[in-house]
Amino acid sequence: MTIFVTGGAGFIGSNFIFHMLKTHPDYRIVCIDKLTYAGNLSTLSSVMDAPNFRFVKLDICDRAGIFALFEEEKPDVVVNFAAESHVDRSIENPSVFLETNILGTSVLLDACRTYGISRYHQVSTDEVYGDLPLNRPDLFFTEETPLHTSSPYSASKASADLLVLAYHRTYGLPVTISRCSNNYGPYHFPEKLIPLMIINTLANKPLPVYGTGENVRDWLYVEDHCRAIDLILHNGRIGEIYNVGGHNEMRNIDIVKLILKELGKSESLITFVADRKGHDMRYAIDPTKIHTELGWLPETKFQDGLKKTIEWYLTNRDWWEEIVSGEYQNYYQKMYGDRK
Ligand code: NAD
Ligand code: DAU
Repeated sequence: MTIFVTGGAGFIGSNFIFHMLKTHPDYRIVCIDKLTYAGNLSTLSSVMDAPNFRFVKLDICDRAGIFALFEEEKPDVVVNFAAESHVDRSIENPSVFLETNILGTSVLLDACRTYGISRYHQVSTDEVYGDLPLNRPDLFFTEETPLHTSSPYSASKASADLLVLAYHRTYGLPVTISRCSNNYGPYHFPEKLIPLMIINTLANKPLPVYGTGENVRDWLYVEDHCRAIDLILHNGRIGEIYNVGGHNEMRNIDIVKLILKELGKSESLITFVADRKGHDMRYAIDPTKIHTELGWLPETKFQDGLKKTIEWYLTNRDWWEEIVSGEYQNYYQKMYGDRK
């Protein structure tokens, strides 16, 4: 069994590769990644020399390159993680999100049609459902919730989902889609809330909380997401969408306070800054379908997962110090420099 994992040098894709090589040592994994600012080859160093692993630096929008790799490798399964993934960047510059997230997905789908595969899996997001109001804790996203996107990022992910479903209906491509809530854990790029707050706390830098900090996200430890995708690949029904989330809703401000407490620092580091444009209020997944059909349940409790994550950032300083000392400085200045 050969599995193409696109975007495997990023946060969730790399964790998925580690999970699959450990859980299915007889599978061959081919990682395809363009190595954008978010892709980091050092993340994959522990598996680079494994005999059943191959890394290929390639843009999923490169039709000729992708078709040539399909011709050469004849994959059985494709799992597409490759994406521009940061909402704030999509607000600054939407076009690359449309290229990678929509057109890149269409290239992969065309290659799958041409060469034949037993499964194409699209890694999607709960953000395609838009947001929920804070005063309706009884509401959750189910797989039937209408698509109602807010940002260029979420609009591009929803567009890709619709393409994937269209290729199933029109061409009979054997597809599945997972829509997961916010992940956290090792190798999370420091532009995202949890790693950014850990790293700024360690440096005694201000912690920039958007708006009032009351926005709610539904956090899941990355390994639980990887197990969910593995289960969907093996037991999920073709043509189906599976929501993935662990009923772990938290307000941003409470997460930031927890990180400060874990690291023994003062809440005076918290700085409220201008809100994100179009900021979604609350995400909350109803995971009933994946639980009842596939028996999936999250295994890591948030308190434990956050402790493990903080520990990881403390013991893997080389990984993130290299990132935050480079181009990331310009990004940080641009996004946060005069954000009042
Ligand atoms: P990430 O930004 O950490 O990694 C994305 C990876 O894709 C990087 O390695 C990057 O180099 C690669 N990439 C980008 N454009 C590419 C292109 N054109 N061709 C090939 N490779 C390219 O993202 P992540 O947080 O690991 O998210 C992975 C996927 O999971 C995304 O599709 C995202 O929408 C989805 N998702 C993320 C979360 C989350 O909380 N992070 C939750 C639900 C779904
Ligand atoms: O829900 C799944 C999505 O989760 C994924 O599809 C996206 O790829 C992923 O980036 C993530 O999107 P969010 O926008 O929810 O994650 P982010 O870490 O950017 O922000 C989480 C919350 O924290 C959000 O309400 C904005 C807020 N925030 C974020 C940053 C970076 C701050 O208050 N300050 C910050 O500096």
